[in-house]
Amino acid sequence: MSVLQNDTFLRALLRQPTDYTPLWLMRQAGRYLPEYRATRQRAGSFLDLCKSTELATEVTLQPLERFPLDAAILFSDILTVPDAMGLGLYFAEGEGPKFERPLADEAAIRALAVPDMHKLQYVFDAVASIRKALAGRVPLIGFSGSPFTLASYMIEGGGTDSFSKIKTLMYDRPDLMHHILQINALTVIEYLNAQIEAGAQAVQIFDSWGGALAYGKYQEFSLQYMKQIVAGLKREHDGRRVPVIVFTKGGGLWLEDIADTGCDAIGLDWTMDLAAARRRVGDKVALQGNFDPVALFAKPAAIEAEVARLLADYGDGSGHVFNLGHGISQFTPPEHVTALVDAVHRLSRPYHRAA
Ligand code: CP3
Repeated sequence: MSVLQNDTFLRALLRQPTDYTPLWLMRQAGRYLPEYRATRQRAGSFLDLCKSTELATEVTLQPLERFPLDAAILFSDILTVPDAMGLGLYFAEGEGPKFERPLADEAAIRALAVPDMHKLQYVFDAVASIRKALAGRVPLIGFSGSPFTLASYMIEGGGTDSFSKIKTLMYDRPDLMHHILQINALTVIEYLNAQIEAGAQAVQIFDSWGGALAYGKYQEFSLQYMKQIVAGLKREHDGRRVPVIVFTKGGGLWLEDIADTGCDAIGLDWTMDLAAARRRVGDKVALQGNFDPVALFAKPAAIEAEVARLLADYGDGSGHVFNLGHGISQFTPPEHVTALVDAVHRLSRPYHRAA
């Protein structure tokens, strides 16, 4: 395996000294890049793209060819997991992800089981192939959805604004809800460990919808299962620590609880004050975030001012990985991403002098 040439991202996650603040962007490979749209067209569909080792490798590397990002993220989707469980994932044009067989009744819920990881072999093959193609340029991030976020798609059958089906089940039949979440947690542990074995050098748990839960329900139905996952993950591979990032969108109210999961870093959305977040978690974990992805539509000078504000808010020293507060929009001008990456690298150096 080639030597890692830029480990700034891994060091920042472990709060070790770095020369500058590293960055990557959630959904950095995607439709805002014309080269992605071209490869996706060649693949035929988004799922075919995820399942082709060669094309998934190609699109993972595309953003790195354009921008000097400090990490690559596996090109795949969180919904490959419920697909492997037999729910039948498909993408209706312009409608986002859907399931042919959502968990519609108790019988379907009782029949749910941890899938054979061979069904996800294409993901592990992509990880190994991307590592090879990266040849040590930057580390590779693996990922999974959180048990609750996966369950929301599995029960609702697709995206939702109200979470009415999953919350109804949670309030009426907490036993069934816990049954689903337990199976999801066991699956995610196996899935992420297999990604780590295949070469993922850090992993992120996307709890995109945990923030929709009421106080108390978040702890019981989302956090608890992420804690179980963190405890079940391989934390070292090839002689190096594999950091774990937990990203709960809307989780700012619960930072202390998230830090207690045993994760190495917490992903923050753009509603958070980085200075306050840092005071609250102390030296327990690193922080990742939290540029408003919509601010990427503004002019480069405004983007740079916003970067300067976030870097000043975090302040001196290591422990910050710059990122967006959520995924990049498909309508983002790529040149604005160039301005963002340049500003983070250039303006962050003074904050790392003492190191
Ligand atoms: O970050 C990366 O570059 C890696 C790839 C990645 C994708 N999805 C590719 C993708 C990652 C990490 C994800 C995670 C994901 N997928 C999440 C969690 C992160 C978040 O945004 O909250 C969720 C909730 C999903 C489910 C999902 N997949 C949705 C809601 C959609 C439709 C989104 C949209 O913008 O239309 C997808 C499809 C998807 N996943 C696309 C990409 C690049 C667009 C597919 C296309 O080419 O049409």
